[in-house]
Order: sequence, then C-alpha cells, then structure tokens
Amino acid sequence: MATETASFGAGKREGHDASAFYRRRLHTAAEPAPLGEPASPPEDVLDTFHCASSEDMGVLPDNTVALMVTSPPYNVGKEYDDDLSQDEYLGLLARVLEETHRVLEPGGRVAVNVANLGRKPYLPLNHMVAGLLRDLGFLLRGEIVWQKAQGAGGSCAWGSWQSAKNPTLRDVHEYVLVASKGSYRRMRIGEDSIDRDEFLAATLSVWNIPPASARRVGHPAPFPVELPRRLIELYTFRGDLVLDPFMGSGSAAVAAVETGRHFVGFDTVQGYLDLAARRVAEARVAAGA
Ligand SMILES: C[S@@+](CC[C@H](N)C(=O)[O-])C[C@H]1O[C@@H](n2cnc3c(N)ncnc32)[C@H](O)[C@@H]1O
Repeated sequence: MATETASFGAGKREGHDASAFYRRRLHTAAEPAPLGEPASPPEDVLDTFHCASSEDMGVLPDNTVALMVTSPPYNVGKEYDDDLSQDEYLGLLARVLEETHRVLEPGGRVAVNVANLGRKPYLPLNHMVAGLLRDLGFLLRGEIVWQKAQGAGGSCAWGSWQSAKNPTLRDVHEYVLVASKGSYRRMRIGEDSIDRDEFLAATLSVWNIPPASARRVGHPAPFPVELPRRLIELYTFRGDLVLDPFMGSGSAAVAAVETGRHFVGFDTVQGYLDLAARRVAEARVAAGA
C-alpha cells in the first residue's frame, strides 16, 4: 500500500504518494514543459574537443546533449583564471549555462561541481549557481555534497587556534548541483549500465570520493574521473552524448569513454585539450575500445 507524507514525524518512503506534499503552497514553480523533442547529435561532433569559449557552442545543435557535467573555473587565481569581478564571473557562468540549456535535450540533466569560496565574507557559489540555473529555466533536482577528505584535510587555515576569537571552518567538501531541462524524466530511453551497489551509493546525497592529484594529471584543478563517471552512469544511457563546457584535462571525456558514452568538450587552452586527447586515447586502449 502506498504511504503518504506524514503529518507528524517522518514516514516510510516505499511506494510513496507525495501528491499532498506537492500541492502545498510552498511549491509555486510552474509545471515542467518539455520544450521540444530530443534530437540526435550529428556524427561529426561526437568525441570532439573545441578550443573556444563555451559561451558559444554553435557547433552543437539544439536539444542534442543528454548530460552536461562540469567543473567551471572558480576565478580564484589558477593559471587559467582571469581576475573577474563577481558580476563578470556570474555573467560568464550564466552565458555558458544559457548555451547549455539550448543544446541540452528535453529531459537531459546538468551536474555542476562548485566549491564555496573565502571566509571574509564567505561566497556561497552553490546558492549563486543554483539561482542562475533556476532563473534560466532549469528544474532544480538536488545537491550532492562531495566529501573530498575525511576529518581534518590539508587546510590549516583555522583562523584563531583553540580560541573563540575567530575560528574558521575548513571545507573538506564541494557540491554538485543537479538540474533538468523541461522534464524531470529522460524522454529518450536507452540501455543503462549502472549496477545495484553503485545505484544505491549514487542516489545518496553525500559522496566520498578522494580528490585527483593536480601534479599527477598535469592540470591545476582536475576532478577525479570517478566523479563524472558516477554522474554519467546515474543520469545517462549507453551511447548518449556528454558535454563538458570547461573540459580541462578531459576527466569527463575519459569517464564517457570508460562507460561507453560519447563526449564533446570545450576549453580555451589548447594545451589542456591536448592533454585531454592523450588521456582519452589511453582510456580507449585500457577499455579495448
Ligand atoms: C576547473 S577547470 C576544469 C577541470 C576539469 N574538470 C578536469 O577534470 O580537468 C576549468 C577549465 O575551464 C577552462 N575555461 C576557462 N574559461 C573558459 C571558457 N570561457 N570556455 C571554456 N573553457 C574555459 C579553463 O582553461 C580550465 O581548464
């Protein structure tokens, strides 16, 4: 028998009928509107890198990408960062996310890895980027806390040591914001590849995945292949097209190859794309593809 939202405490969730919860006035968002039909990407964009700003992804037709997974530049002084003001920085992200909305197929998802920054004051980029996504018409689906290190990490910026004068939080996590376009469900169904244990772990809101070594990968801020790999297996079918508009060293492309998906990537630094191409070639050899 289906359960309903409990009026006292928390109820069980199996076969849950949440319609009473979604009828409450808290939920003011418009009903999803599918925004057209998914389209097949042209063969010549499959598995390609583009040295260009992803503010313009004109090589990609509308409604062709199943998942966008990315880690944008954080504008914190890495070798590829400009020193943008907050408005300029959010403007860049908004333009890329708007292009992403265009190329994403209805029912497709975005997964954006962001870290919150600074302490004086704290910049909650996860809130800012969630606001951008919502304002651009994406349907927000949730937020994954990516725990990068257990307990005390490498940071010793604790402010005042053992004193209430000015203790400072040391982040051991980042976020992955998840949103859909037009429909909560994928409209085009294909062949899944996720196994039971991975599905159980991937649908929890906290993921424990160790960070990648910048030195070993050869990029200032790579994410571990495990992160895009889990997102790809959770949100896409075999043969789908995965976009990373800030491709860097190509971790998302490697994950796409390892899981039998296609990729397309953008970066403004050709050297990073050369590195990405080498990593993808190695992944193909390892996968026997
Ligand atoms: C945080 S890094 C991404 C790292 C990547 N996830 C990896 O695993 O290597 C952000 C990347 O965005 C690129 N970038 C910065 N501005 C860009 C733009 N306007 N269009 C495309 N790429 C850009 C930078 O060169 C950098 O490689």
